Amino acid sequence: MHHFQVRNGEMHCEGVPLRRIARATGTPVYVYSHATLSRHYRVFDEAFEGVRHIVCYSMKANSNGSVVRTFTDLGSGADIVSGGELARALAAGAPPDKIVYSGVGKKPWEIEEALRRGILMFNVESREELEAIDAVAARLRKRAPVSIRVNPDVDAKTHPYISTGLMKNKFGIRIEQAVKDYEWAAGRRHLDVVGVDCHIGSQLTEVSPFVDAARRVRRLVDRLIAKGIPIRIVDIGGGLGIRYHDELPPHPREYADAVADAFRGLPVTLVLEPGRALVGNAGILLTEVLYTKRIPSPGGRGKKCFFIVDAAMNDLARPSLYGSYHAILPVGKTPRGRVTADVVGPVCESGDFLARERIMPPYRPGDLLAVMSAGAYGFSMSSNYNTRPRAAEVMVSGSRFEVVRERETVRDLFRAERTASFLVRGRGAKR
Ligand code: LLP
Repeated sequence: MHHFQVRNGEMHCEGVPLRRIARATGTPVYVYSHATLSRHYRVFDEAFEGVRHIVCYSMKANSNGSVVRTFTDLGSGADIVSGGELARALAAGAPPDKIVYSGVGKKPWEIEEALRRGILMFNVESREELEAIDAVAARLRKRAPVSIRVNPDVDAKTHPYISTGLMKNKFGIRIEQAVKDYEWAAGRRHLDVVGVDCHIGSQLTEVSPFVDAARRVRRLVDRLIAKGIPIRIVDIGGGLGIRYHDELPPHPREYADAVADAFRGLPVTLVLEPGRALVGNAGILLTEVLYTKRIPSPGGRGKKCFFIVDAAMNDLARPSLYGSYHAILPVGKTPRGRVTADVVGPVCESGDFLARERIMPPYRPGDLLAVMSAGAYGFSMSSNYNTRPRAAEVMVSGSRFEVVRERETVRDLFRAERTASFLVRGRGAKR
């Protein structure tokens, strides 16, 4: 369920026609629906009703301050992966004791900052990282709350780039090795072993891999408790998929029941790290058709169209990077007829496309298109490739909309650059 609907032939976000937003901010622009974000959070949180749990929104999916604030206002914590995300989470009101810090490459300054702020726990991905956290905590005379991210070796059956729970992935520690690392950590004065963590991948559309992973984690927790290591928190990561096209992902309740079932009877708090499931379908990327191009179809029959739009792979990398499907819908009335088309951006790469070989109306320059399901891993993965300023972001609530991040200016793109002094001095000089 989301609040991007066509009314009187015009697509709206809640009560606001998208055309109005495009006119006010220009394109490309990301548009988020506050009502959809809130609804998704509530449905997810309520699915775990009756189970002691903390929802830690996975900020990498969309770290815009107003998006994060929407969730923290509803009681969410944050799953962070960098010192940058820590700062953003705190700025958006996440309580430190609801922040979990994941990721394979934490640097000493990042560990120090998180320790000083008093986060809930570090999800640790290697023995060397445990040692690094121990050393920073000793220096600061603190005890660092840690959980080990275990690799349960289950197949998430998703795109290989976003599958993380297999032995061949860089993430987590093998369960047998983890037992040894837990024993080591339990003996360190500056480490406080609080939990077990796992995350097996993203955009999962079945519950069975979650169940397999949860059962393996449960067995580990039982073993650790039997060894006198009092595990209080079980973090089962994120990964619940959404509908982009024709997927049928499990409802959060089905997911919650399956996961909670594996830990029944244990005196633990569950930590959940949903990203995509909360924001994916709560955002779109609004773009305008600049030009159209027709070439004879490679198959020899008919013509193939290119719709060249003003959004590109630097704005939304998912189609180019993973071959992901995003529905592309007209914002206003559309010309009659159907053509086979690629929707492409201005970036100078053949891999710069938002859609390929799709049947769609014969759009014309000036038409506005909505690239759907772009709320997760859209803006947060955007770049300045081709020296393109990053898009503006807008949030809608009811009949109001506000810019929640200004479009970058071309000047912004140069601000941190310096011309090397030897180039300036050498200008025109003979050598
Ligand atoms: N927790 C951890 C440790 C993670 O690595 C991730 C995502 C999440 C939680 C949130 O997963 P979610 O609920 O959003 O599936 N750029 C890719 C997705 C990368 C996911 C990385 N980790 C994409 O656009 O599909």
